[in-house]
Amino acid sequence: MQIRILVVVMLMAMLAGCGRETSNVYGGDLFAITCARCHGSDLGGGIGPSLGVGSNAASLTEEQIEGVIRVGPGAMQSFDRTLSDEQIASLVTYIRSQQNP
Ligand code: HEC
Repeated sequence: MQIRILVVVMLMAMLAGCGRETSNVYGGDLFAITCARCHGSDLGGGIGPSLGVGSNAASLTEEQIEGVIRVGPGAMQSFDRTLSDEQIASLVTYIRSQQNP
């Protein structure tokens, strides 16, 4: 009985956590949650390549960066379904702003 309640509480916590993870989060905050673990909180790279000043990504067009986020090449996952158009656009704007400080 108590275990069932525990399971329900844990499920609710997980669902609440999922919702909070990305909805209504944009730009730098969204990058910190969804991208920084691979690209570094300062865009300096890690598992994924650097996206910052002087990086290959700095030479990409905004359309190309958007395409990468939607497609998710190689070891990177696709964000086409998990992020809204507005969120993806806010990431492109954020990345650009960090490449041209
Ligand atoms: C699981 C790790 C991981 C996550 C999370 C991740 N990426 Fe990536 N990303 C990669 C890897 C690995 C590559 C290189 C893919 C390849 O070309 O093989 C990459 C490539 C890129 C590139 C192209 C870089 C270049 O030089 O061509 C951009 C732009 C990019 N990611 C942006 C993002 C953004 C924005 C997010 C968050 C929405 C994100 N990534 C989340 C791993 C990740």
